[in-house]
Amino acid sequence: MQKKITIAIDGYSSTGKSTVAKQLASHLNYIYVDTGAMYRAVTLYALNNNIISETVFNKEKLINELDNIEITFKYNETKGFAEVLLNSINVEHQIRTLKVSNFVSPIATVSEIRKKLVSQQQRLGKDKGVVMDGRDIGTVVFPDADLKLFMTASAEERAQRRYKELIERGDAVNYEDIYNNVVERDLIDTTRKDSPLVKAKDAIEIDNSQLTLDGQFHTILQLVKDKLAGR
Ligand code: DC
Repeated sequence: MQKKITIAIDGYSSTGKSTVAKQLASHLNYIYVDTGAMYRAVTLYALNNNIISETVFNKEKLINELDNIEITFKYNETKGFAEVLLNSINVEHQIRTLKVSNFVSPIATVSEIRKKLVSQQQRLGKDKGVVMDGRDIGTVVFPDADLKLFMTASAEERAQRRYKELIERGDAVNYEDIYNNVVERDLIDTTRKDSPLVKAKDAIEIDNSQLTLDGQFHTILQLVKDKLAGR
């Protein structure tokens, strides 16, 4: 049987981490774990339970209720990837709204939440054969990952991509709001105290501003093949 490795993909928001992670997982027959979806599911719980809003963030209440928040994944055959469930309810669509994007970064600064999600992520990836994407996978979740990638692209390019994605799924959004959200999340994600977004020393940086999806996939697949061949 071919050796299985751990692939950690980190980077800024909307850099296409999940697109390439899904492509790799399906090509290699690995599991794919979207850790951003887990922070988004906790955010949805906080929004639904009036724990966070424009004016309030009741951190203590959220920490006290952490044991009531169960996040699981369920493989969707048609889509070819695992969707996220919050307390057994499929929230894959709801967690991708701009509203959730606007509140997720403050939620992800809370150490108690990170601790819970990181240990779940480590359990999910313990047998290798995993592609995991997020902000701290190569630095905190799997510091010994076999292959670490760090994805970047300009904020304008990322906002354009996210805008297109949300418009295509029928959300009424404007480009300015998306751009501001991208810039704001970059700032919070890179400056928070606990597990800030930084490139791991041994990560390979991929700037995909000018790469096609296909070009990016093949570049990264080659890196995986080299790793599997021990190069
Ligand atoms: O990848 P994403 O845009 O869906 O992630 C949503 C937010 O979750 C992101 O702005 C920061 C946070 N996040 C994190 O702090 N650590 C991770 N491993 C993944 C996401």
